[in-house]
Amino acid sequence: MKKKNWWQRAVIYEIYLRSFRDSNRDGVGDLPGITEKLPYLATLGVDAIWITPFYESPGFDNGYDISDYETVDPLYGSNEDFDRLLAEAHRLGIRVIIDIVVNHTSDRHPWFLESRTSRMSPKRDWYIWQDEPNNWGSQFDGSAWHYDEGSGQYYLGLFSGAQPDLNWKNPEVREAVYSMMARWAQKGVDGFRLDVISLLAKPDVFDDGAMTDSGYGTWHAQVANNPLVHEYIHEMHERVFAPYSLMTVGEASGVTLEEALKYSAPERKELSMVFQFEHVGLDGSELYKWTHGRIPVEALKQVMSRWQLELSETGWNGLFWCNHDQPRIVSRLGTEGPLRERSAKMLATCLYGMKGTLFLYQGEELGMTNAHFTSADQLRDVECLHAYETLLDRYPEEEALSIVAEKTRDNARTPMLWNAGPKAGFSEGEPWIPVNDGYETLNAEEQQGRSDSVFAYHRELIRLRHENDCLAFGTFRPVENTPEPVYAYLREDPDETLLIVCNFAEEEVFFQIPETSGRKVLLGNIPDSRFLTEGVLAPFEALILTRKTDS
Ligand code: GLC
Repeated sequence: MKKKNWWQRAVIYEIYLRSFRDSNRDGVGDLPGITEKLPYLATLGVDAIWITPFYESPGFDNGYDISDYETVDPLYGSNEDFDRLLAEAHRLGIRVIIDIVVNHTSDRHPWFLESRTSRMSPKRDWYIWQDEPNNWGSQFDGSAWHYDEGSGQYYLGLFSGAQPDLNWKNPEVREAVYSMMARWAQKGVDGFRLDVISLLAKPDVFDDGAMTDSGYGTWHAQVANNPLVHEYIHEMHERVFAPYSLMTVGEASGVTLEEALKYSAPERKELSMVFQFEHVGLDGSELYKWTHGRIPVEALKQVMSRWQLELSETGWNGLFWCNHDQPRIVSRLGTEGPLRERSAKMLATCLYGMKGTLFLYQGEELGMTNAHFTSADQLRDVECLHAYETLLDRYPEEEALSIVAEKTRDNARTPMLWNAGPKAGFSEGEPWIPVNDGYETLNAEEQQGRSDSVFAYHRELIRLRHENDCLAFGTFRPVENTPEPVYAYLREDPDETLLIVCNFAEEEVFFQIPETSGRKVLLGNIPDSRFLTEGVLAPFEALILTRKTDS
């Protein structure tokens, strides 16, 4: 078996802490809840978990607004609970990746409280202050410049006023962040997921941006991937990642291939990989997500193949369909109907077949669907609550709600479905966000007991990734000119080639290609495939076919 970095053939399971498992009946998931469920994750076979922020926070953005980087928020447990979780995970052979938010802090962080005391504060320059705002809008609500009455200036908060941006130009800020990260590394964490990392470096001058529908200008072109960001990340690598051999993944929405290569090319010593969002933004959501829309399959194929071809040999890809900011993939690209499980397996095959580190989001291994919110009082996320208000100015209530219900991040944030018991086994209290309907039949316990479940299929795919060198490291090559709903590609190494074939349609498709000759099925999502014999792909069928090279 080829020996490379552990994370290259790994499957990393994202845990949205608030919604995974509540151990103390307060309706909110917590660290002991994760520890309790580690055996489940060991059975699934994942290599690592990524836990969303658990640090002290006012919770404006569910923990992505940190007020103390070194203390576990009591809502989620204690520092000792974290130590126990880490030790137990390591005992089970599961690595632990923590989520760190260093583009901004909470406005309650002592650094910001000090910074805002006066223009003369020694920490004034730790944040970004101006006398006048420009036209930039914030991600969640209103202007990106927030007036501070006490000191009479505006500070930059690209997401919201509750999340002031740190000034990375200031070396003291960088030092403080690196030493904080090093302390987590010393505790034994195995890596970091770096929140909105492409936004760290701000321009010298803040020019107005192009106006958008929101009535504000955009800042993305001036802020994202500003050249200085690579210097900061390289410095972070030298100070923290290299000394502790950490795996890192940076969230980089809007990142181009060229930039992603800079972040992930090993010789540049920046990050292990980034998350790019082009494939999940094809329904329009990278530009403006609050409209109905489905991801077009033809465009999806082009985008996914391009990232594979241009990054997987020279840099590295982080592969994902789902995370805590995205609606559920089965609802977006598969079906919620009778073929839900088959479509979930097809989507899994398509992603696991690619070259890169695979990220699996809680519930995806069960084929969980969107939540189908039916009233605004079921929504929790700050971003969608604001969007809903704005949509109400444009659309009748029913339409505004249906757009928000389709696109809200809350779709990913409803509780994990553990069993058919009350609240799906998530909590013995009242969950902070409603539990999805249908958990009596769609739940982890049921799927663990069934050999043809989505869970069992993921388990098999994870095993294959671990054992099959070609799946882990073989070169990617797309099969050209396939019928629109069919995505087919090859993975090739000197000993074996794999052909991955996925039918994204709810209909049967006829598809014959010479590449199938001499192949046998390594894995498939239906029992009696007619593909090799008749060239027929069943609705949502997926296959991994192998052919060994003659020696
Ligand atoms: C990232 C997180 C998201 C959060 C935002 C601001 O995009 O994934 O959940 O709201 O950063 O920190």
